[in-house]
Amino acid sequence: MAPVIDRERVEMKELADYSDGPSLISSELIQVDESPRVALAWDDGAHTALPPIWLRDHCPCDACRHASSRERLCKIIDIEVGVPDVSLDHGALLLVWPDGHESRFDGVWLHQRRPGQHQFQPTVPAARAWREGFMPAQVTHRDFTSTDAGQRQWLEALIRDGLVLLDQGPTESDEVTRIAESIGPLRATNFGARFDVQSKPNPNNAAYTAIELELHSDLPNWRNPPDIQLLYCLESEAEGGASTFADGFAVAEAMRHESPKHFAMLAEIPIDLRFQDDDHDIVVREPIIRTDDRGELREIRFNNWIRDAVDVAPDQIEDWYAAYCDFWARLRAPRYRADFELAPGQMIAFDNRRVLHGRGEFNPNTGKRHLQGCYLDYDMVESKLRVLAR
Ligand SMILES: [Fe+2]
Repeated sequence: MAPVIDRERVEMKELADYSDGPSLISSELIQVDESPRVALAWDDGAHTALPPIWLRDHCPCDACRHASSRERLCKIIDIEVGVPDVSLDHGALLLVWPDGHESRFDGVWLHQRRPGQHQFQPTVPAARAWREGFMPAQVTHRDFTSTDAGQRQWLEALIRDGLVLLDQGPTESDEVTRIAESIGPLRATNFGARFDVQSKPNPNNAAYTAIELELHSDLPNWRNPPDIQLLYCLESEAEGGASTFADGFAVAEAMRHESPKHFAMLAEIPIDLRFQDDDHDIVVREPIIRTDDRGELREIRFNNWIRDAVDVAPDQIEDWYAAYCDFWARLRAPRYRADFELAPGQMIAFDNRRVLHGRGEFNPNTGKRHLQGCYLDYDMVESKLRVLAR
C-alpha cells in the first residue's frame, strides 16, 4: 500500500488546476556527467532530473512571482544559481539555495509542468479529421448562453472539428456580436467588425452577390487571416443558398498521400493573394498550404476570386495549375464535405484556417437571405475554454 502523504498544496501563482495528481515521493541531488541535477520521482512512475537553473527560474515565492499578476519577477540573468539543498516537505519540494533563498514547489504542479512533456494543454482538445458523412455538433442557443457546460461543448467541438452549429437562437440583429463577445473581442477587418452577407448593389466582394461561392477561406490575402468565423442566419427565404463546408486539412492530407508532387507544389510555392477596392490594396505572398517545421498542416489559403496574377516561374506554371486544380477537385468531392441549409436562428462557427466554406447560388427574387458574421481570434477561443475548465 502506498504511504499516505499528508500533502500540503503550495501556491504556485497558477490558475490552472493542480489540486490533484500523482504524489512526489522522492527528491535527491545527483550528478549527471559531472553536472548537478535535482532528481524527482512520483508515485505514478514518472521521474525527471532537472538542472538547478530551471527550478531557480520557476520559484513561485512573492519575490520571484508577483502575488496578484502571477508574472515572473525573478531575473535569472542576475542570479548566481549554485547548487541547492534538496528535501521533501509534506509532499512539496523544498530547495535552499547557497544565497539563502528558499523555494517551495507543489509536487503536482511539478509533475504537470516538468519540462520536455510538450503537452501542458489538458483542456484543449486535439484536432480530429472529419470522416465521411461528418455533420457538425449542435449546441442550443439556450445551453450556450446560460450554462458553462453548453459553452464548453461548443468550444471543444469548434477546436476539435473546426465546425460547430448553434441552434434555436433568436432572429435578432447583432446576436452574432453578442455571442462572439462572450468569447472575446471581435477581430475587425477591412469589411468592419461585423458584416452582413446579403446581395447588394455594386458589391465589392463576391459574398455580397447572389452567385455561387465555391469553397474558400476568408481573407487569405492578409498576413494574419481571421482564425474563427461566426455566421448567424437571420433570414433564409430565398431559393438556394445552402451552406457547404470541407475539412481542408483532411483534403490536403489525402492529396499529400495520393499526389505528393501536387501537395509539395502547393505547400512550397507561394502565390499572391490580393483584395483591391477604392480604399484598400491588401496583398500577401504565401503558399496555399502551410505546414510547420515538422510537416504538420497549419493553414489553408484557398480563395479563387482574390487570387492575384499567378507569378511563378514560367516552367512551373502548368505544374502549379495541375496541383491547384487537383486540390480544387478534391474540395468538390462529397467525401470531404458537409452540406446543409442554415435556418433562421442558427449560427455556424468554423476555423477559417482549416475548414473551407461556401454556399450555393440563390435567387434573390424568391425572398430574402441575410446572414451576419464576424471573426474571433483562436487565442480567445482557447482562453475561454481554459477559464471554463478551472
Ligand atoms: Fe467567405
